[in-house]
Formats: sequence, structure tokens, C-alpha cells
Amino acid sequence: MSLWKRNFYRSMALALAVLVTVTVFQRTLPPDQFLQETLPPSGPQVNFKNFWKSPSDMVAPSPVTSQGPQVWDVTTTNCSANVNLTHLSWFQSLEPHFRQFLTYRHCRYFPMLLNHPEKCGGDVYLLVVVKSVITQHDRREAIRQTWGREWESAGRGRGAVRTLFLLGTASKQEERAHYQQLLAYEDRLYSDILQWDFLDSFFNLTLKEIHFLKWLDIYCPNVPFVFKGDDDVFVNPTNLLEFLADRQPQENLFVGDVLQHARPIRKKDNKYYIPIVLYAKPSYPPYAGGGGFLMAGGLARRLHHACDTLEIYPIDDVFLGMCLEVLGVQPTGHSGFKTFGISRNRASRMNKEPCFFRSMLVVHKLLPAELLAMWGLVHSNLTCSRKLQVL
Ligand SMILES: *[C@@H]1O[C@H](CO)[C@@H](O)[C@H](O)[C@H]1NC(C)=O
Ligand SMILES: *[C@@H]1O[C@H](CO)[C@@H](O)[C@H](O)[C@H]1NC(C)=O
Ligand SMILES: *[C@@H]1O[C@H](CO)[C@@H](O)[C@H](O)[C@H]1NC(C)=O
Ligand SMILES: *[C@@H]1O[C@H](CO)[C@@H](O)[C@H](O)[C@H]1NC(C)=O
Repeated sequence: MSLWKRNFYRSMALALAVLVTVTVFQRTLPPDQFLQETLPPSGPQVNFKNFWKSPSDMVAPSPVTSQGPQVWDVTTTNCSANVNLTHLSWFQSLEPHFRQFLTYRHCRYFPMLLNHPEKCGGDVYLLVVVKSVITQHDRREAIRQTWGREWESAGRGRGAVRTLFLLGTASKQEERAHYQQLLAYEDRLYSDILQWDFLDSFFNLTLKEIHFLKWLDIYCPNVPFVFKGDDDVFVNPTNLLEFLADRQPQENLFVGDVLQHARPIRKKDNKYYIPIVLYAKPSYPPYAGGGGFLMAGGLARRLHHACDTLEIYPIDDVFLGMCLEVLGVQPTGHSGFKTFGISRNRASRMNKEPCFFRSMLVVHKLLPAELLAMWGLVHSNLTCSRKLQVL
């Protein structure tokens, strides 16, 4: 071997050794510590005073390094009715669905029926999660074909976009066995269903929220951003990714259609009616409409722990607002999120206007056929006379 060749091989071997050493070194550092050295955290600081109630915990505010479980650790349903309430007169005077809610309010976590621990494997930039129910297969199908499509890259050197649907069990007993088999089959085809063993009812939507946050803490601890939405909305993923392009995962990012000083509804015939005994204050903390919002992964993990300090509240998006309040984080309103409807006038031309949908991030509310049609229009050779600038 010539001297030149020998030197060449020697330097190649050295370079390889350096590479291996650096990689091993980086891997042994906790990912957050490694990140913090290169990217200083920005954005408003969290108020830990409320969150960490015990003074001994307050010395080290390092919320991202949790010693939580490595797998879903709830394997049995052991939820007995809270009989302490039954004799109380205020309880007896409540409507049946409030009595049911209060009777099982203390049961916080249930076993998983369908799980995808691998979902955040590799480099995932954005996790899209959609609240769905077992019977709404057509909505899931339409979302998979439109805004829920998975992408290998979010562009600009960013990681993948992955999608999951969040489900409980069929709310009608007679539907259960049949739909459960169909769902298992659907999941084998698409591998995108998370299902927990609790009844999928309106008042159990908060359970879905806290189950997802716990799941994220275990299985996606490093995902930079999460979009969470309903299965009857229009989402413009291009605009979401554009919006995220100059955000940092360390920010306390929680953005959506934010309501300030919303009052609890006291009219009994309203879907969102709340009796005084359940919530006595005149207004809710600021919260983002559950139809669709974006949050930073780190904040989502801290939310999981914050929510665990609160009693479950039956309205899921209000409950998340309460958890944010515990952390001292304000949700940010953005005009591109229209989760409470576009225009008060249902017949408004805006509700059908593809140029409008193209400029938005989330719009409520579309049925599967409408979603597919609107998606087609938005992605056709559309000429929009006036560019609506919302980003
Ligand atoms: C369920 O809870 C009851 C009382 O709360 C307890 O006696 C029982 O052992 C529990 N069962 C399981 C399987 O954990
Ligand atoms: C019911 O009351 C007993 C005694 O006060 C208490 O130990 C128990 O935790 C209560 N049950 C629930 C579900 O709150
Ligand atoms: C929520 O789900 C649990 C478990 O299936 C059930 O026992 C409870 O009644 C449900 N609560 C409501 C309010 O539907
Ligand atoms: C849009 O227009 C371009 C050129 O005018 C054409 O090549 C393309 O096929 C059109 N796309 C659609 C979806 O109509």
C-alpha cells in the first residue's frame, strides 16, 4: 500500500471514530438538555407557583424531564360508582346525565384497546389528532383523503406529519360488538386508531382529552407540535405548517379560536348547560374552541401534569383552559381558526367560498361530502381575486 493510501485510510478511520463518539455522546444526553444548548427557550415563562403545590418541588422547575411510565400503565377498569353522593339533595335534583357524570367523575384513566406506540418513531414534526367516534367511519375516511394525509416531511427540512384518531367505545351497547370488529379491521388497514375503554359520550370528551395527553407524554415525548381537532372540520395543513415555520417547540404555543370571559350557560335546554353546583364562577378562564387548535409538544406534556391536579370538568375545551390557567399560560387567538363558525349568517356566501377556505387554518363545520368537495376546490386551479392574508 502506498503511503498516500495508508494516510487516506487512517484519516477516514479517524473521522469515523469521531462521528461515532459524537453520536454516542449526543444520545447519552437527555434530548432536552441537548436542545437547550443549541436553542435557548423563548416565549413567556410558565408560572410554576400554582402548578407545583408542594414547596419542595419548587426548587427544580424542569417539567420536561418526567419520570412517568414508559407504557400505558392502566390495565384494568376498576371504576365503582361514588355512592357518597346519592343521599345529597342537590345531587338528587340534578338531571340524569349530570348525576351519571358526577357518579363516575373520580375514574380518570381506563385501559387501552387499540394502541400505536410506534407512531412517533423517527423524526415526527407534527402530530395531528382527531376526536372521532366509532360509528363515524366516513368522516375518518374523508379526513385520511384530505387534511389527515400523512406526509414524510413537513418541508424545509422538518420531520414527518402523522395522524391519529382518538376513540372510546360505542355508546350504545347493541352497537358495540359489531362496530368494534369493523374498527379493528379499519385499524389494521390504516394503523391510525387509539382507543380507550370508556364510553364515547359527550360528557366523556374530557376523558379523551386527558387520555390523549397522558398517551402523548408516554409515547411522543419529543414531538415538537400537536394539532388537535374535531372530525367535522376543514383544516388547511399547508397553512398550519406555514404558521409553524417560525415557531419554536419550546414556546408556550397554544393557539386557536380563543374565547375570553365566556360565561357558563345556565339555560337547561342548551347542550352546554352547566348547573351552579358544578361551576359557580361567572366566567370561564380563556380557552380555545375544541374544533381545532395547535400546541407545542412540551406545553402539552406540562398540561398533562397540570390537568391531573384538577377535577374533571364535563366540557373538554373549557377544561383545557382550566389546565392552562394552572400553568399560567394564556392561549393565543388567531383569526385563521374558525371553530365557532365563520359567519353568524348560515346562508353567508363565505361558508361556500373556496378562496376563503384556502386562506384559513381551521374552519368548522363540514360533513364528509362537503369536506371532499371543498378540498378539491381549494386544491384546484383556483384564481382568487383578493388574497386574504391571515398568517
Ligand atoms: C377494585 O376496587 C375495589 C375497591 O375499590 C378493590 O376491593 C378491588 O380489589 C379492586 N379490583 C381490582 C381488580 O383492582
Ligand atoms: C366516599 O367517602 C369516603 C369516606 O369519606 C372516602 O374515603 C371515599 O374516597 C369517597 N369516595 C369517593 C369516590 O370519593
Ligand atoms: C364515561 O365512561 C365511563 C366508562 O365507560 C362510564 O362508566 C361513564 O358512565 C361515562 N360517563 C358519562 C358521563 O357518559
Ligand atoms: C392547473 O393548470 C395547469 C396549467 O395551466 C395544468 O397543467 C394543470 O393540469 C391544472 N391542474 C388542475 C388540477 O386542473
